[in-house]
Amino acid sequence: MNSDTKSLFSILSVFYGGHLIRGILVGVIGMLLIEVLGVYLCAQLGAIPANADAKPPFIEKWLARKALHAAIDRTAPRTQNPVALNDANLLDGIKLYAADCAVCHGTADGEASHIARGLFQKAPQLARHGVEDDTEGETYWKLYHGIRLTGMPAFRETLSENEIWKITLFLKHMDSLPPMPKKAWQALAPQSAHSI
Ligand code: HEC
Repeated sequence: MNSDTKSLFSILSVFYGGHLIRGILVGVIGMLLIEVLGVYLCAQLGAIPANADAKPPFIEKWLARKALHAAIDRTAPRTQNPVALNDANLLDGIKLYAADCAVCHGTADGEASHIARGLFQKAPQLARHGVEDDTEGETYWKLYHGIRLTGMPAFRETLSENEIWKITLFLKHMDSLPPMPKKAWQALAPQSAHSI
């Protein structure tokens, strides 16, 4: 190959190389734009489910769980519960739970209220699906921050840290309460309509 053919070859390869890269870029950006437009059109036409009376698709559940666990792993407190385990603190936790949580998470009978049953995501009935095996830091995080796009509220603005730790203490020991708090827990009015 003489030097003239060589330089012609390199000019051609730069030209075609650049062309190819530009083609790929235009293709990728085009695809992205079409996807964004597609999602927008689906939302505009009402094709994205916005109703609460449906089962969440697998992918939505998987993504939401993944995001929640990653956030908790990163930011939940790793400290012990600063509130002492005694009857007075457990009783305070139960009182706070009755006021702010029972409507969605039920009382000792484990039966869901109409509100709990209509929620999307479903609110677990904590007497049946308790969180005793979760760390207190994880439960504290959920109460403090809430869980986005579910009915689970953030209580950071309405309860003190001490109150949130007291409810956390109660949830951690819900299945092994000492006699007095246990009596108070079992005396809370059921939330399910059929027991009115
Ligand atoms: C308006 C309804 C509502 C109220 C009130 C509410 N929650 Fe929730 N909560 C939910 C829903 C819905 C979920 C499920 C979120 C999900 O699927 O990730 C949830 C999730 C939780 C969880 C996680 C359960 C698990 O299995 O990991 C805990 C713990 C919890 N709530 C505690 C409380 C406490 C304590 C209160 C009161 C201070 C409270 N919630 C008030 C609706 C509510």
